[in-house]
Amino acid sequence: MTRFAHITGWGMAAPDRVLTNDDLAKMVDTSDEWILSRTGISERRIAEPGESTATLAVDAALRALESTDINAKDIDLIIVAPEYLFPSTACIVQDQIGATHAGAFDLSAACTGFIYGVNMAAQAIRTGSIENALVIGAETLSRFTNWEDRNTCILFGDGAGAFVLQASDRPGGVLTCVMRSDGSGESLLSLPAGGSKLPATHETVDKKQHTIQMKGREVFRFATRVMASATREAVSLAGWELDDVTWVIPHQANMRIIKTAARGLRMPIEKFVINLSRYGNTSTASIPIATCEALQSGRIQDGDHLVLVGFGGGLTWGALTLEWVIPERKISRSARRRRIILVLLVRIRSFIRRLRRKIEGVIWGTSSSDHL
Ligand code: UT7
Repeated sequence: MTRFAHITGWGMAAPDRVLTNDDLAKMVDTSDEWILSRTGISERRIAEPGESTATLAVDAALRALESTDINAKDIDLIIVAPEYLFPSTACIVQDQIGATHAGAFDLSAACTGFIYGVNMAAQAIRTGSIENALVIGAETLSRFTNWEDRNTCILFGDGAGAFVLQASDRPGGVLTCVMRSDGSGESLLSLPAGGSKLPATHETVDKKQHTIQMKGREVFRFATRVMASATREAVSLAGWELDDVTWVIPHQANMRIIKTAARGLRMPIEKFVINLSRYGNTSTASIPIATCEALQSGRIQDGDHLVLVGFGGGLTWGALTLEWVIPERKISRSARRRRIILVLLVRIRSFIRRLRRKIEGVIWGTSSSDHL
């Protein structure tokens, strides 16, 4: 029997702290007028000290699970965009939500990561190797931003969005995907230091090589080229015409990039889901956050044809087509309450496991680098 991969749960998380264009104008030589007219961004969210990519990812994941009829232990696979080199953010999410049967890994494809991740999860579901997956786009780019560089600090914001994907024999869900890359453009958008090529030194810190470096105009030109071409390819693979598309949910990087893509596709801009004025560019999180908001406001309806399209560092780009099927389910209040209790129990279990390791450490000795 043919298997399909449906999105049955969705959730988002954004820090409460808002940084407006006027706030930025006090930090660097810029203005609300310049930022708004060149990018379409008015404000963005910035993580508080206690927040990180992992905490935002966990919040989005729990909200996505809340709207489904499965529990965290039913999840077979968790894919997240990275926070540390290792351990993976996906493992931290696995522990914090209690997905005791899940494999978990991070996927690094910059802003295109969410599209790559949804496609990987859908393929694993279609082959029959897994039943349920959780894909999360989560970012705290504010921690990698040079707040003295007006070319980049005006663009980025923090947030997370998550999809739960489930196997079904009902046609629809994730249909087609194109994934592309061009490493010859590696220097256009990068975080140069902190890896094997340029490990952290005082010099890399002094030169601000642990912050985002971007050649804005070149990225802009690349983005306007690939958004339309990837959309066309994915739509054609699905056997649709562009007129069949109900909504395009683009990576929220720059309003001018989105408008150029719409013109290139000869599609009305009203078909594009856009919320970048309030969040800025949240990288891998931008597409799921925009999708969640469109679902919450009731814009996306059962049977709608969606295109998710993104681009980013690498260079990477991709587009994915989806036939949106609203899941049939009724989640009782008691089931919701049970889930809240379950999350608390999961946190306690994680604490006990960490404590047990500490006690074992006292008995058997610890390594000098132990920081748990
Ligand atoms: O997820 C992917 C992430 N990256 C992107 O999507 C970035 C894509 N690129 C862009 O969005 C645009 O290139 C930017 C918004 C980054 C820049 O807009 P632009 O229209 O390409 O500006 P520009 O770099 O060509 O700069 C035009 C002028 C320059 O001054 P001069 O040389 O003409 O005197 C810049 O120095 O604007 C100046 N400028 C600014 N002025 C006020 C650059 N940044 C600012 C600023 N405020 N924040």
